[in-house]
Amino acid sequence: MRIDQTLFFFGVLSRVFSFNDPFVPIHALEGGQNPLARTEDLAFERWLDQEQSIALDRLLANVAPGGRNMEGMVPGVVIASPSREHPDYYYQWIRDAAITISTLVRLYAEDPNPAEAPNLPKILRAYASQQHNLQQSSNPSGGFFTGGLGEPKFHTDGSAFTDSWGRPQRDGPALRALTLIRYLRVYNDTNPALWSSGDPDVTHFFKLLYDASLPAISIIKADLEYISNHWKHAGFDLWEEVQGLHFFTAMVQLRALSEGKEIARCFGDRGAAMWYAKQQENMEAFLKQFWDERKGHLVATLGTPRSGLDCAILLGSIHGNPDADGDAEKLPLAYPPWSDEVLLSLLDLVKDQRNRFPINTQASYSSDMLEGVGIGRYPEDVYDGDGTSRGNPWFLCTASASEVLYRSLSYFARQGFLHVSGRGLRFWTAVNPEQISSPGNYSIQNPVLNSTLVRLKLISDGFLKALKRHVDTAGGMSEQFDGITGFERGARDLTWSYGAFLEAVNARRNAERVLATR
Ligand code: NOJ
Ligand code: NOJ
Repeated sequence: MRIDQTLFFFGVLSRVFSFNDPFVPIHALEGGQNPLARTEDLAFERWLDQEQSIALDRLLANVAPGGRNMEGMVPGVVIASPSREHPDYYYQWIRDAAITISTLVRLYAEDPNPAEAPNLPKILRAYASQQHNLQQSSNPSGGFFTGGLGEPKFHTDGSAFTDSWGRPQRDGPALRALTLIRYLRVYNDTNPALWSSGDPDVTHFFKLLYDASLPAISIIKADLEYISNHWKHAGFDLWEEVQGLHFFTAMVQLRALSEGKEIARCFGDRGAAMWYAKQQENMEAFLKQFWDERKGHLVATLGTPRSGLDCAILLGSIHGNPDADGDAEKLPLAYPPWSDEVLLSLLDLVKDQRNRFPINTQASYSSDMLEGVGIGRYPEDVYDGDGTSRGNPWFLCTASASEVLYRSLSYFARQGFLHVSGRGLRFWTAVNPEQISSPGNYSIQNPVLNSTLVRLKLISDGFLKALKRHVDTAGGMSEQFDGITGFERGARDLTWSYGAFLEAVNARRNAERVLATR
């Protein structure tokens, strides 16, 4: 591909082909010279379409009401996986459920009654009541007012899980608050008349979600109080292994406080809004500590004896900042996907994982170039999906790498220029080694910007192509895929794997839309 043709192609092809046409501009570009590459890309596009339906269907199978794997279950329950032994993931985790339901809220915003998800409105409402019950239950982390909101997982009937476990996990309340705030906004947008109708059922429901009274009893405010009073306290990380202060946890707490203060204002709760805003400010300063200048990347846990590289950094950036769509006008909070700090952490994690897993090494062209491969949680991981032996690539981690890059692609394409800083240079050189070797500014008139965005798209697609190679023959995704044999490992049909895939594909679609309208 000649660089000086790319601008022309972007412009012309994007008008000819709409973003959901199989002939997507960038693929047409890449395939221009090589008919085989083109066939492969068409197959990839087709797979993405099919896999999206499979992923949504399998995700819904693990959610009540309506889910195939949820017979007799209380509405609003989300299981982490239907696997009941080796490993037993047949529980409701606060984190997995909140992340899953957040994807369903996004779908609900696009279409409140989609044919593929007939139970959607019921699921969302039931999720809120189920979480209300879980909040109220007393459990090994404490009672409703005494730390119980940090309990990470519950039995499917809502009763407390009392065996020993890595608790508390303080990301749960933040993720739940974010999901319910998103739901509250979307519900209000889709039913604006209801809000002001005075209908007692609706009023009751809104009060269940947010109410200014103290002590806080509404679901969202209880979570916000928990976050604003406990964010300085150590807890277990999202992988349930390490006690400390964690990047992922802090990022989702920060965002919950930011969105929480806006919701508090909407409900006339001015004192709370000020208190959340103050804690948000404190957290912003605190988050600076996660950048390690000597290592040149972020670390997942403060003072960690590990490398600190971790897919939790990618997930923190994704879940801790405004959504890929709908929120384009919202300012990022901290470490957005396109920040040097996140991109460098991604680069170093991917390099490690590429060399670590034999299934990845066949894919590499050159050791200095970034490319999409299967990635796992962190370099030192030994969890094999059931016990401990050696770590493997994970579906949700690999999807999160592509999501970070698609969201970056949208950002730079929308902005129309790329500033390569001294700090970020290492990343951009790995993306476009032939053309970027020093810091500088690349504007829309400069073909380097275009060729860099084209490369970024290919790299992001590379991660999804790795998933394509490792799903089972029916399109199923478990938790991990074996780093040596490539076959699936760990809990089957992991709900979070499907959600992470759907979010990545959504970010891809957004990126294509931005590229097409440039
Ligand atoms: C150990 C794993 O590393 C952790 O992430 C997981 O949650 C628990 N085992 C339970 O399966
Ligand atoms: C293990 C993961 O490490 C953790 O993040 C997750 O919540 C549980 N499995 C359930 O999927």
